[in-house]
Order: sequence, then structure tokens, then C-alpha cells
Amino acid sequence: MTLPPWAVVTPERRAHIERVVAQLAAWAAALRVPDTKRARWLRAARLHDALRDAPAANELAHGPMAAERAARDGERDQGVLDAVRYHSIGFAQWDDVGKMLYLADYLEPGRPFDPELRAALAARVPGERDTVLRDVAARRIARILEERWPLPHETVDFWNSLVGR
Ligand SMILES: [Fe+2]
Repeated sequence: MTLPPWAVVTPERRAHIERVVAQLAAWAAALRVPDTKRARWLRAARLHDALRDAPAANELAHGPMAAERAARDGERDQGVLDAVRYHSIGFAQWDDVGKMLYLADYLEPGRPFDPELRAALAARVPGERDTVLRDVAARRIARILEERWPLPHETVDFWNSLVGR
């Protein structure tokens, strides 16, 4: 896998990005999506954490930083840029790229928590993506609430879009 030349990632981060790319490639194969669509998913995956280990990055800043750098670098696909920008918090206006990246980032098999449960969810994505997306969003938002972290308004809007409000 080739990361952008401006990427700043640890070896562990690169391995995570590779697993996200592989997860999206597996779903693209299962769904037989056209090559152009598959290429958008994989581009977003390669970009999403490319600046996660940069000195100025943090949990909330690294998505917007990578999106802005990718745009300067010539990425013109707004769906890809929005997928990268909002991958940590969700975005109500996402197209399929943002939704698939959000799923793959959480469900890739290398994360240490809930491996069986997440593998079962990953297996269901090709057949019932939107149901799994609601489930993953609910889990991620529950974690924010448990930790008593603030809930970004983009996350609230994303959740409401998933439940039809
Ligand atoms: Fe990630």
C-alpha cells in the first residue's frame, strides 16, 4: 500500500490503515462494486489517518488536517474529502465513501476490543450496511457518553440522519 508522501504515521498506524484498506477491498469484492467506486473507498482509507501521528494532530484535528492536505495535493472528490474530514465524528451528508470508511475504521480486525462481535458486524456489512452502520454509530456514541466526553454537533446530526430525523 502506498501512503501519500506527506503522511506521518507510526508502523502501528500504517498497519491499521492497511487493515482498513483490506477491509474495504473485501467488502467491495463481496458487493461487486465497480472499480471507480472501489477506488474512492480505498483512496479515503489511505488518506484518513495519514496525519494521525503528525505533531499538531489529535483525535479531532487529524481528519480535517488530512482532508485539507489531500485537497491541496489535488484530491477533488468531495465525497472522499468529507469521508476523511469527518471519519472520527460522523457526518450527516456522507455518501457511501464516508459510511464505508466509518465502518471499516471501527470494524477492522486489528482493534483489541470485542473481536468476535466486531467480526460478526463486519460480516453483515455487505448484506445490511445501514443496519450495521446504526449499530456501529450507537456503540461509538455510547462510548463518548460513558466517558463523559462532549458530543460534537456533527455526531448528533449524523445520528439523527441514521434514524430518519
Ligand atoms: Fe483509522
